[in-house]
Amino acid sequence: MATKIKRIGVLTSGGDAPGMNAAVRAVYRACVNFGIECLGIYRGWNGLINNEIKRLDAHDIAHIINRGGTILYSARSKEFMTEEGQKKAVAACKLFGIEGIVAIGGDGTFRGALALSKYGIPVIGIPGTIDNDISSTGYTIGFDTAANTAVECIDKLRDTMASHERCSVVEVMGRHAGYLAMYVGMAVGATAVLVPEVEIDFEQDVIEKIRHARLSGFTHFMIVVAEGAANGAYEVAEKIRDGLGLDPRVTILGHIQRGGSPTARDRVTATRMGYYAVKALTEGKANRVVCVRSGDMLDIDIEEALSMTKTLYTLDAETLQAMTARR
Ligand code: F6P
Repeated sequence: MATKIKRIGVLTSGGDAPGMNAAVRAVYRACVNFGIECLGIYRGWNGLINNEIKRLDAHDIAHIINRGGTILYSARSKEFMTEEGQKKAVAACKLFGIEGIVAIGGDGTFRGALALSKYGIPVIGIPGTIDNDISSTGYTIGFDTAANTAVECIDKLRDTMASHERCSVVEVMGRHAGYLAMYVGMAVGATAVLVPEVEIDFEQDVIEKIRHARLSGFTHFMIVVAEGAANGAYEVAEKIRDGLGLDPRVTILGHIQRGGSPTARDRVTATRMGYYAVKALTEGKANRVVCVRSGDMLDIDIEEALSMTKTLYTLDAETLQAMTARR
């Protein structure tokens, strides 16, 4: 049974991701379509607590579909995780007449959404993080752009590594997850890829692979390390120095992966998810996360989404193993 909802808020929270602006735009435009007023909540859950709320208009969201970052700003809120913070947020919803919230972000954002939903505020989550580590969905907004940025950087690194016949150790973001590193490692044809989800034997899986490549005539080597794996790139480089006597160069790609104009995939996914989230609120849905699986949009309960664990696709891990096997 459809509910006539008059006013909703939209926020972005946690690490920003390219495509968040496209999602904010889609939420606004979907609101216009459904005759709903759309309020921008600035600086994530902190902004809700501190009443940093403003009605969005057509000018706010004009020409942002192609912009990285988030016009709503982002933050990680410790206060929102407390009961006191949540009560302030509920009071803000009452003050501004917010009848539903679209929260764009990762796991932390959804935990906030779950907390707020327990006070009766309907929240719909949109997965936006470069890490692609949200279990309930096959894809999170920002992943494709971040992966392409990392690939472009590594291709550039390869030029200088090849000229100097060096070993490069590149650290890719992803916090505790290895999706980004695995995807990027596959895209650049890395000599070895280290991700937290796959236990390795360093001697066999890194040192021996480089040795074999060397014996086959290769003179430069690209090792991709997820930030959550093997204590990071510096330790990996140290072990390569000790094991092979090479002098590897370390590059931490870092926050550069979070910036830049979103790819078409991120813009389109963000647009579809933004529309879907507002539609869900108009249908009386509450406390759901928008997900995409095999190209289809669906929504699942936030609590259920948070309790799921994501594993690397077996076939991807297997493919990567084959691609980085000794040459
Ligand atoms: O979750 C996105 C992410 O970019 C991770 O890949 C990374 O570990 C983390 O955020 C970095 O967070 P911060 O922006 O607080 O340094």
